[in-house]
Amino acid sequence: MSGCPYFQRKFVSTSKQHPKEDENDDSQTGVNKASKGGLIYGDYLQLDKIVTSQVLQSELKGNKIHDEHLFIVTHQAYELWFKQVLWELDSVREIFISGHVRDERNMLKVNTRIHRIVMIFRLLLDQFAVLETMTALDFYDFREYLSPASGFQSLQFRLLENKIGVPHNQRVPYNRRHYRDNFRDQESELLLHSEQEHTLLQLVEQWLERTPGLEEDGFNFWWKLETNIFEGLRREKEKIEQKPDSEMKEEMMAELIKQRDIFLSLFDEKRHDHLVSTGQRRLSYKALQGALMIYFYREEPRFQVPFQLLTSLMDIDTLMTKWRYNHVCMVHRMIGSKDGTGGSSGYQYLRSTVSDRYKVFVDLFNLATFLVPREWVPKLDPSEHTFLYMAECCDSSYCSSSSSDDSD
Ligand code: HEM
Repeated sequence: MSGCPYFQRKFVSTSKQHPKEDENDDSQTGVNKASKGGLIYGDYLQLDKIVTSQVLQSELKGNKIHDEHLFIVTHQAYELWFKQVLWELDSVREIFISGHVRDERNMLKVNTRIHRIVMIFRLLLDQFAVLETMTALDFYDFREYLSPASGFQSLQFRLLENKIGVPHNQRVPYNRRHYRDNFRDQESELLLHSEQEHTLLQLVEQWLERTPGLEEDGFNFWWKLETNIFEGLRREKEKIEQKPDSEMKEEMMAELIKQRDIFLSLFDEKRHDHLVSTGQRRLSYKALQGALMIYFYREEPRFQVPFQLLTSLMDIDTLMTKWRYNHVCMVHRMIGSKDGTGGSSGYQYLRSTVSDRYKVFVDLFNLATFLVPREWVPKLDPSEHTFLYMAECCDSSYCSSSSSDDSD
C-alpha cells in the first residue's frame, strides 16, 4: 500500500494486528441503544417536518435560486426563537398573575427566565450577519416570488411585542391602517386577545407598587427622599450664594435651578399622571417610586435580584430597538428605498419604528435622571427596617400550598 506511512501504521496495520487494543478503548465502551427500538433523535425533534419545510418559491417557479434556502432557514430560525421567547414570557407572566411572585424565592426563577430572553435576543441580533452574506442582487433574483408575504405578518413577533407591553395606540400605522388589519381573522383575534391580557409591563408595575419600604406608616421612602433632596438642594444653593459673583457662579445657579425643576416634576403626582396619559411615562406613580427605591438600595440583599430584573427589562428594550435597527439597515442594503413585499414604504416605514414609541420600560431608563448623591438617599436603620435584609415572610397558608410557580 502506498501513501501516508502514519495512516498505514495507525489505522490499517494496528487494527488488524492488535485487535485487543480496541477492547481497551474507553471511547468505545458504550452500548448501541438506538438499534433496540424506542425514541430516536429524529422522531423526538420531529425533524421530518422541520428539515423538509424549506420550499423554495424560485424552484417551484422553475428558476431555482441558491440563496432562497438561506433566506427561508434564517426566517424559520427566528420564528423558532420567537417561540422560545414567548414560552419564557408566558411562564413569567403566569408567575406574576398567580401571585407566586409574592414568595421572593420565585423572583430568582423570574429573573433567570427574563435573562434567558435577553440572551436569545443577543443571538437574534447576530443572526442578521449570516443573512447579510446574501447580496442585494442575489436577493433580487428571487424577491419577486415572495410578494405579498412579509415579515410584517409575523404573528409571533406581534404577540411578543404585545405581551411585553407595546401599546397598540403607540404603534406606527401601516399605510394609515391599524397593524391588526393586516392579519387574517384567527390571527387578528389572537392579537386582540394578547392586547387585552396582562402585559409584562403591567405585571411588573403591580409588583413594583408593593415594594417594601414605600408604606407611609413604615419606612416611608418617598417622603424621606423628597425631604432629603430639597434639603440638599437648599444647602447647595447656600454654598453657591457664598461664592463671589462670576460667570461660573451664574452657571452653577442655573444648573441648580434645572435640577430643582427636575425634582419638582418627580414629586408632582399630577404631572406624572399627565405624562402617563400622553404615553411619555408608562409606570404608575407608586411603581415609579418602587423602581427608584430598588435603584437606590440595590446593594441590600433583598433588592439585589429585583435590581437585576429591572436591568434585564431594560436590556430587552435595548435589544429590541437594536433588532429593529439592524433589520432596517439590512433592508436598506437589500432593497434600497423600494416598497416592501408586504406593501409598506419599506425602509421609510421601518425607520420610523426605531423609536421610543416601542420602548416599554422607558421609565426605567429615565430613572437615571433622578439619581442623587449617596448622602441624600434616606439612611436605613437595620434594627428598624429588617425588610431589606431578609426575604419577606409570606402567610403560612400560601407558603404551604406552593413555593414554586408551576409544575416544573
Ligand atoms: C433580506 C432580508 C429582509 C428584507 C429585505 C426584509 C424586508 C422587510 C420590509 C420591507 C418590511 C416592512 C413590511 C413590508 O412592506 O414588507 C419588513 C418587516 C418586518 N420584517 Fe423583514 N426583511 C428581511 C428579513 C427579515 C428577517 C430575517 C426577519 C426575522 C423574522 C424579519 C422580520 C420582519 C418583521 C418582524 C417585520 C415587521 C416590523 C415592524 O412592522 O415593526 N425580516 N421586512
